[in-house]
Amino acid sequence: MADLTVCVGNIPFANPVIAASGTFGFGREMRNFQNLGRIGGICSKGLTLLPRDGNPAPRVAETASGMLNSVGLQNPGFTSFLANELPFMIDLGCRIIVNIAGNDPEEYLEMCRRLDATSVDAIELNLSCPNVKEGCMLIGSNPEMIEKLVAAARQVTKKPLWAKLTPNVTSIADMARAAESGGADAVVLINTLLGIAIDRKLRRPILRNNIGGLSGPAIKPIALRMVAETYRAVSIPIVGVGGIMSGNDVLEFMIAGATAVEVGTANLIKPTACQDIIDEIRAIMELDGVSEVGQYTGTLELWNG
Ligand code: FUM
Repeated sequence: MADLTVCVGNIPFANPVIAASGTFGFGREMRNFQNLGRIGGICSKGLTLLPRDGNPAPRVAETASGMLNSVGLQNPGFTSFLANELPFMIDLGCRIIVNIAGNDPEEYLEMCRRLDATSVDAIELNLSCPNVKEGCMLIGSNPEMIEKLVAAARQVTKKPLWAKLTPNVTSIADMARAAESGGADAVVLINTLLGIAIDRKLRRPILRNNIGGLSGPAIKPIALRMVAETYRAVSIPIVGVGGIMSGNDVLEFMIAGATAVEVGTANLIKPTACQDIIDEIRAIMELDGVSEVGQYTGTLELWNG
């Protein structure tokens, strides 16, 4: 029987498949399609201290092998989340990771302090949303700011801290090193790549926000390269994200160095994606004769010369 369990730092997961932030809401709609107790975990939609309506529509556009989004962190606000969504999520029976996105460092810290008193399994510091003007990617593209924020968060919570990083930088490995120096328990990579979609007839961007973040299979080779580079740069676990559509994709990310993965855009195409991917991993492990899924992690051998 294939053993799919993995540990991200000290937290055991039943399998390496986590639903990515912003593609699964808080699990309410998705529970109608699959038994969420079977997936490794769910990462909440990005939360801000105050409620946000998000960016004006249109805020999604389909592209070749992917999609652009400029949602702009629409969410009910942190206080409403704690009262109305978190109790529901905790009862789902899988690991719960909460993605937080501050306008400034103090907002991140305020949310970390309040999450410390809850039973969430980890906090994902969103240092990478490309669709807002404050916080997030502004912090996440500066290694000094990443280190400072993670270190400050470390002081206010004992919860595992995962830093979700942006690919819109010259060296994501430098950003991961900064997160590790600040005391992060894991890095999550990659968030979306900045892009633009154009309506030829209108001669305008399709997204009302002009630019958005590209996700889906189009970005998978970039994400794999960044995971492989980061694996050689840090010793903390990596949670790989970017265009994962199948069990085979998950194992490629693990070979590149990921301990676990987050599945995003696939959920929007097929609401049973996470569950199906877990079944596919099990079937591939049997074909490969691999008994523990963790045996794939970090086994990539680069060609020399
Ligand atoms: O626009 C958004 O809500 C996206 C968030 C993210 O990429 O983290």
